[in-house]
Amino acid sequence: MNLIIAENYEDMSHKAANYLIEKVKKHPKMNLGLATGGTPERTYELIIEDHQKNGTSYEGIQSFNLDEYIGLAQDHPNSYYYYMCHQLFNDIDIKKENVHLPSGVAKNLEEECQNYEALITNAGGVDLQILGIGSNGHIGFNEPGTPFQTKTHIVKLTNSTREANSRYFVTMADVPTQAITMGIGTIMKSKEILLLVSGDNKAEALQKLMREDVNEQFPASVLKNHPCVTIIADKKALTKVMVHS
Ligand code: GLP
Repeated sequence: MNLIIAENYEDMSHKAANYLIEKVKKHPKMNLGLATGGTPERTYELIIEDHQKNGTSYEGIQSFNLDEYIGLAQDHPNSYYYYMCHQLFNDIDIKKENVHLPSGVAKNLEEECQNYEALITNAGGVDLQILGIGSNGHIGFNEPGTPFQTKTHIVKLTNSTREANSRYFVTMADVPTQAITMGIGTIMKSKEILLLVSGDNKAEALQKLMREDVNEQFPASVLKNHPCVTIIADKKALTKVMVHS
């Protein structure tokens, strides 16, 4: 795993946006794997700024998001589809038919999982997957204990994940209890992975990722088995990894 050290959240976001923009310029028809959550928000803003100023185009790009809450329709303000439209898609020239997220309100959710997995495979797989990390080591919504070979599947969210994400909802009771997520096997098939880590609330997770052996109780540890992972982490996230930062 290649580590890029950033000064702070702003610097991490600039480094991440530049990394992605350079890839898109080189490969204007690539398949991008995208993440939600607080971590990539500024990165997405910077991608929009670059699109508006420099005209980097996403017309030929297909995007595949990691996950979606079960029970929230696309127009629900807490759905990840809504998040992606408002944080990124509405302000760049990506074609709406080229953006893909699993549907959390499909009639047959098992079938939806299979269809989403097939959609990614048939598109030739994800070229660059952006990832965040949960404080318990989850990637996408793959919680501790998820077998590493899993494909897109339905998950029950842990209380810690629901609590972490409750900041976006009115009450804790509004936070969905289940989600559809790309599996760890799906994520590991991406040709390249860019993991973004920021803030002292992620320091322990990053320490575990760097120090612990690969094990299913800490899902992100699987990334050590991937041949092409870049981590962009800011100094607050690195406090437990680097003694002198
Ligand atoms: C969320 C998302 C993940 C995200 C992670 C970290 O629950 N499902 O895709 O990477 O948890 O979120 P944040 O960036 O808000 O800390």
